[in-house]
Amino acid sequence: MEKVRRSVLYVPGSNPRALEKARGLPCDAVALDLEDSVTPELKVSARQAVCAALKNYGPREVVVRINALSSAWGADDLAALRQARPDGIILPKVQTASDIAAAKGDIPVWAMIETARAVLNLAAIAGSGAAVLMLGSNDLLADMGATVMAGRQNLWGVLTQAVIAARAHGLGAIDGTFNPLDDASGFAAECAQGRDFGFDGKSLIHPGQIEIANRVFAPSADDITEARGIVAAFAKAENRERGAIALDGRMVERLHAQAAARVIARADAIAAREL
Ligand code: COA
Ligand code: MG
Repeated sequence: MEKVRRSVLYVPGSNPRALEKARGLPCDAVALDLEDSVTPELKVSARQAVCAALKNYGPREVVVRINALSSAWGADDLAALRQARPDGIILPKVQTASDIAAAKGDIPVWAMIETARAVLNLAAIAGSGAAVLMLGSNDLLADMGATVMAGRQNLWGVLTQAVIAARAHGLGAIDGTFNPLDDASGFAAECAQGRDFGFDGKSLIHPGQIEIANRVFAPSADDITEARGIVAAFAKAENRERGAIALDGRMVERLHAQAAARVIARADAIAAREL
């Protein structure tokens, strides 16, 4: 069954309360963080806490963000996690495909796209054996010398290119974070934007964001009804040999039937989750 990653919640590895709290939250994945949310003095204790907590998250996918391999902690983080075995390792500050090669073992690597060089190298990074591309918009904007713009206008090109690179190589694609904690409608709009650009889900920073992301990144009841109608129409005997048919006053092609089947598969995968 396909992976469901509507909501990927960052949890600071140095925050025991948050590590505990996430065990009962309805996010599809937890991203236990050893990097930017953890201060240097706490890097080693956070690593130990995260390794000890890894198996506590039930059906949630558990990925751990290590420190960059160029940092003082990256190599030890990687060695510890190869023992502890999370479902995935998030590699920050990726610049080139060889960064992925350095982290790759038998645990899937999620490549953070958060540097200007990573954007230039998207095709090679996506083809390097990574499992997921995960946007790091805060770092990327800083590296670009850009600021936050309404509607993320200065990131549209990156959103498109990251999703295209991911799809071309069959990888997952997770959108970046939304920093305001008190703007539910702005958050919902940014989730919808990420979904419409093609992302599987969104990086989250607070439990209050989970429900909205889960809703926006799931097919709606109308989407599912429409998808079932399209699949059923192509299954009719008179339509079996046809590449395009008329349905409810518009043309529907076989590619739409394939997309509809994906919507149904995704809805089934979501329904099968018990969070
Ligand atoms: N994961 C798990 N639990 C979280 C959480 C998170 N990311 N953020 C908040 N919580 C918990 C709090 O512990 C608190 O639990 P409790 O009331 O049951 O004890 C509850 O949710 C409400 O938290 P709240 O008081 O609203 O937030 P805060 O002021 O404690 O924390 C942040 C705000 C932004 C510091 C916090 O949400 C956070 O650390 N987010 C993640 C930051 C991060 O990982 N950044 C790096 C990636 S960009
Ligand atoms: Mg970052």
